Amino acid sequence: MHLSSLIALLSAPLLATSSPLSSSSSSSEIEPRQVYGVTSKYCSTASGNVPSLCFLQYYISATAPTFRVALPSDATNNAAYDTILQIISPITQTWVGFAWGGGMTNNPLTVAWPNGNQGQVGRTLPGIYSSATLRTLSTARNSTHWTVEVVCTGCSRWNSQQNGGRLETQAGSASTFAWAISRTAVPQPSNPSGSFPVHNNQGMFSNALDFGKNARATFTQYVQNKRS
Ligand SMILES: *[C@@H]1O[C@H](CO)[C@@H](O)[C@H](O)[C@H]1NC(C)=O
Repeated sequence: MHLSSLIALLSAPLLATSSPLSSSSSSSEIEPRQVYGVTSKYCSTASGNVPSLCFLQYYISATAPTFRVALPSDATNNAAYDTILQIISPITQTWVGFAWGGGMTNNPLTVAWPNGNQGQVGRTLPGIYSSATLRTLSTARNSTHWTVEVVCTGCSRWNSQQNGGRLETQAGSASTFAWAISRTAVPQPSNPSGSFPVHNNQGMFSNALDFGKNARATFTQYVQNKRS
């Protein structure tokens, strides 16, 4: 399957509904009642010169990925800013997609998957919003989970001929995200432009970003020191 097919699969159904959709395969590993996940504030533990950073966390279930988003607290709707995304996924999920604008085709879509024992690659797919770039902050894998953490330049605002959009920075104003997961292995894990299998489950969530806001200096220090 080519990227364009994946994009179509991800985007069209997600636009139509905020409820869980039937799986493209016959089995769905997430119970419908579980798909409505829980948002909360998660703050990492400071380590060395890496400060504690707080995230808007979205927990779906033990068998699905957890997503965390962080941003600088002085971010406004009027200018682009960098965002941080963490994906913590059970190893049973072989790729995870995260759409920054809730699943419309013309918004940044970040996809991550495990790559052997070396962790995994995360990126924003080309052809959806090519101005978005990802830098990996950390990757990890153990016997139960793989994780990826990226800083995205270009995921806070996006524009296209059909759709322009942005995250909502105002206190209490919800931003809408979408996610999709698959248990089918990526055929070429080391190739960031490779093809992707059909997803097995997907959903959306909306929440204000307040839980993920951090002092600009803390955000910058976290990015600089976690990368090095
Ligand atoms: C594996 O990593 C996940 C995610 O960081 C963590 O929650 C879990 O406790 C770890 N499991 C083991 C056995 O270390």
